[in-house]
Amino acid sequence: MSGLPAARRTVLKGAALAGAAGLGAAACSTDSKLGHAQTPTPTAPVELGSPDEVPVGGAKLYREQRVVVSCPAKGQYKAFSAQCTHAGCLLDKVEGNEGNCPCHGSRFDMTTGKALHGPATVPLPAVPVKVEGGRLVAGPDA
Ligand code: FES
Repeated sequence: MSGLPAARRTVLKGAALAGAAGLGAAACSTDSKLGHAQTPTPTAPVELGSPDEVPVGGAKLYREQRVVVSCPAKGQYKAFSAQCTHAGCLLDKVEGNEGNCPCHGSRFDMTTGKALHGPATVPLPAVPVKVEGGRLVAGPDA
């Protein structure tokens, strides 16, 4: 590069820096939009609030806590990891009893965790859940 005029070297350096900055920005925005989780499920019991927030015969997504809870019948609850088993994105919504992954379109049965639509084929891992003191609690030892 020593044979290049100074102006040309400056342009090349600028392009390299812009490229690196662009990659950094893309990685950050991808993480925040797609919600890649650091861990698939809570590592300690987490309180989810009133069990009444989970509709009987439906399910509720607790995205921040990375769990989904379904209520197949009044007083019965099942919880699963909200991290897609395909490539680790967090589910973004629950419609009826189906959870949706925004990354590649996988859908999961919220009553069993089973993958209903690929590319994911592995079910969502079950998470212990219980009602304690009138609050839903999910996670290990729950
Ligand atoms: S990460 Fe969920 S479908 Fe790919």
